[in-house]
Amino acid sequence: MKKIDVVVLASGNGSNFQALVDACKKPKYPAKIIALITNVSDSYARQRAKESEISSICVPSEHWKDRAAWESSILTTIQQYDPDLVCLAGFMKVLSPEFFKEWTKPVLNIHPSLLPEFKGLDAQKQALDAGVEYAGCTVHYVDEFLDGGEIIDQRKVKVAKRDTLKSLTLKILKQEHKLYPAVLKQVAKEILLKEI
Ligand code: GRF
Repeated sequence: MKKIDVVVLASGNGSNFQALVDACKKPKYPAKIIALITNVSDSYARQRAKESEISSICVPSEHWKDRAAWESSILTTIQQYDPDLVCLAGFMKVLSPEFFKEWTKPVLNIHPSLLPEFKGLDAQKQALDAGVEYAGCTVHYVDEFLDGGEIIDQRKVKVAKRDTLKSLTLKILKQEHKLYPAVLKQVAKEILLKEI
C-alpha cells in the first residue's frame, strides 16, 4: 500500500508523537514516520522513537549561536529525509517566514485550544482563566504566524467546575491523541489522491 513519508518535530514528552507512531503501525494507515527531529537532547520523544525503531536526530537549539543557523540546520535535516509532510508535535519553537520560503510542503501542528482562541503558550491555563465552557484542541496547517494557519479539525471538551490545570490538560491531551492521527490520515489520503 502506498503511504506518504512523514517527519515529526517534537521537543518534550512526545505523547502526540507516540499517538502518530501507533496509528502508522496499522497496515492500512496511509502514512509512515521516517524520522523524529528534536531540539532537546533528553526529550522523552527520543526514547519513544528508539523503542519504535524510528531514527531520531537532535538539532539542539541551545548550542547554536544564532537562531537562523539553528533553523537552517533543522531545514537541512528535514530536506535530507525529503518527507511529503512535516508534523509538529509539541515542538516548542516557532518556525520563521524564511523557513516557509524554503519548505513549501505541508506542515501540521496540534495546539491545545480551540483556535483561534488562546494562541501561544499555556493555552489550557488561558482557557481556565477565561472561564470558558468548552476547551479543546486543534490541528492546523502551519504558516509563519503563531498558531495562525488554516484550521483542519478540532475536538471539544467540556470544562467542569472542578477542573484544575492538570485535569483539563489531561482531558484535552486524550482528545489530541485521537484527533492528530485522524487528521493525518485525512491529509495523507488527500496527498496520495493528488499523486494519481
Ligand atoms: C500538547 O498539548 C500539544 O498540543 C502542544 O504541546 C503538547 C505536547 O505534548 N503543542 P506531548 O509532548 O505530545 O506529550
